[in-house]
Amino acid sequence: MPAPSMERVVSLCKRRGFIFANSEIYGGFVSTWDYGPLGVELKNNVMRAWWRSVVYEREDMEGLDAAILMNRLVWKYSGHEATFTDPLIDCRNCKTRHRADHLKDRKSTNCGSTDLTEARNFNQMFKTIVGPVESEENIAYLRPETAQGIFVNFLNVLQTTRRKLPFGIAQIGKVFRNEITPGNFTFRTREFEQMEIEYFCKPPKFLQPGEKNDVELHQEWVDQRFAWYVNLGIARERLRKRDQTPEELAHYAKATVDIEYLFPGSLGFSELEGIANRQDYDLSAHSRDVPEEDLVRLKLQKNTDSTTKLEYFDDQYLDPVTGKKGARYIPYVIEPSAGPTRATLAFLCEAYDEELVSEPKEEELKPLREALAAARKNIDKKIAEAEKAAQKGGLKGDAPNPDHLRSINQALEKAEVGLPNSLLNIEDACSLPGADRIELLKKVRQIAGKLCDDYTRVVLRLHPQLAPIKVAVFPLMKKEPRIVEIARQIRRDLQPLMRAVYDDTGAIGRLYRRQDEIGTPFCITVDFETLGEKEPELKNTVTVRDRDSMRQERIAISDLRNFLMEKLK
Ligand code: GAP
Repeated sequence: MPAPSMERVVSLCKRRGFIFANSEIYGGFVSTWDYGPLGVELKNNVMRAWWRSVVYEREDMEGLDAAILMNRLVWKYSGHEATFTDPLIDCRNCKTRHRADHLKDRKSTNCGSTDLTEARNFNQMFKTIVGPVESEENIAYLRPETAQGIFVNFLNVLQTTRRKLPFGIAQIGKVFRNEITPGNFTFRTREFEQMEIEYFCKPPKFLQPGEKNDVELHQEWVDQRFAWYVNLGIARERLRKRDQTPEELAHYAKATVDIEYLFPGSLGFSELEGIANRQDYDLSAHSRDVPEEDLVRLKLQKNTDSTTKLEYFDDQYLDPVTGKKGARYIPYVIEPSAGPTRATLAFLCEAYDEELVSEPKEEELKPLREALAAARKNIDKKIAEAEKAAQKGGLKGDAPNPDHLRSINQALEKAEVGLPNSLLNIEDACSLPGADRIELLKKVRQIAGKLCDDYTRVVLRLHPQLAPIKVAVFPLMKKEPRIVEIARQIRRDLQPLMRAVYDDTGAIGRLYRRQDEIGTPFCITVDFETLGEKEPELKNTVTVRDRDSMRQERIAISDLRNFLMEKLK
């Protein structure tokens, strides 16, 4: 089961140190987020898994790490200075700014006014000044995509690696966009990483018999990238490929397929990655001496600043007419472009699960049912009072809103009927607008919270490759120095192979729950059997508990490395 709502994921991320609001002690900074101790591990694991899959596991890829700041001319010729813009409209009445394509019937979505300005283009690149003098010629941009760093290094990589087409260059790095409508937690932010590939291939005219064309290679990349998300645990039914419509397509793209994930709540199916067939647009844009007909075909301005032509010498090519060997041309490019912060959010939403671990007895549920009944009766009374007050002359400003009260009561009723499976929904009902003003809900919350602690768990079913911590080691009794020392030694031995932690700050049940909630696939417990005093055959063995099945098995300490490496593979 994926996360029932984005709020649950946000709350887990904050509670357990995955993601914090940036500059929180100063009131935050809009749509910027900091990755905490577990978040940085998870995001790094996402990026490592991508690099492993697209660079190490293929034979036709190289890596690159280009600088964030680049010569301004890069952005002139890439088209970003002129066209990386959003059309914006200002509301003269409430002074809010809106994306033109987000407005319905030319009405402010904030105040409903129709007194709006005409659309003006707003460039999304962040400007900065390089050097001590604030002048026009010292303007530089924080890159809005990593792709351009790859294009301008095409010849450097080609010449130093002696690659033949088709081959690709992969890069991961920070990018910055002055998004007008950031939001939905980390889904759309102003600073984020990209994981981009530029896969260079032959234009159709230069293909040899049996070689794959750009359309086939594009399809292969779409399929490979889709499979990557599935292999790392995303259910196929919450993932889809969507062809961009002709209106959405950039003028130079022959085709673009977006991979979308079904996020919970209002976000719904939203883009994780776009895979574009950009033909020879980008390398031509940064090349000098591009023939006029190609400039017209690609709608490019003539490049009078580049010192070179980004072309490839194909020594295999045989001209069918002249029989001449060899040709120079600008390659085509397929671009799979993904966002690791979006992928991280998708993996978190997908892995989030809540379950009843065992069922409370009816007599344990009785106090909760009674508290729920009392709270609902109290709310009914408040609804009646509020309606009466409304009839008499309108509600006072601080009076409870009857619609809010009704929603709370409905949610409580639904939770009560669904007990004990709905135990985890009671907190949601008690967090609805207006609920904080109902005194009796405090008791409901307290009883439900205790039952949740005892009978339910939140578990992040992350793929082991992505899990921030692979194994946690606990001593059954922290007052027994022999047990503690063995547990600490196991952690030290495993740490060079995988992220391992030691924890003795609670009872074993609680320690298991804490690791379940952050997705740790295995927990090891060192107990009295490990000492072998009662049962010598169990000496130097420990229990290993599996996060998903919660099953435990006894393993010899000397076998732990192999056992875990095999399971985590
Ligand atoms: N070079 C092509 C390019 O940059 P894009 O669709 O603008 O294409 C690629 O961006 C990916 O970057 C998106 O699929 C998404 O995963 C990620 N991305 C784009 N804007 C983002 C934002 N504001 N916040 C987080 N991720 C974003």
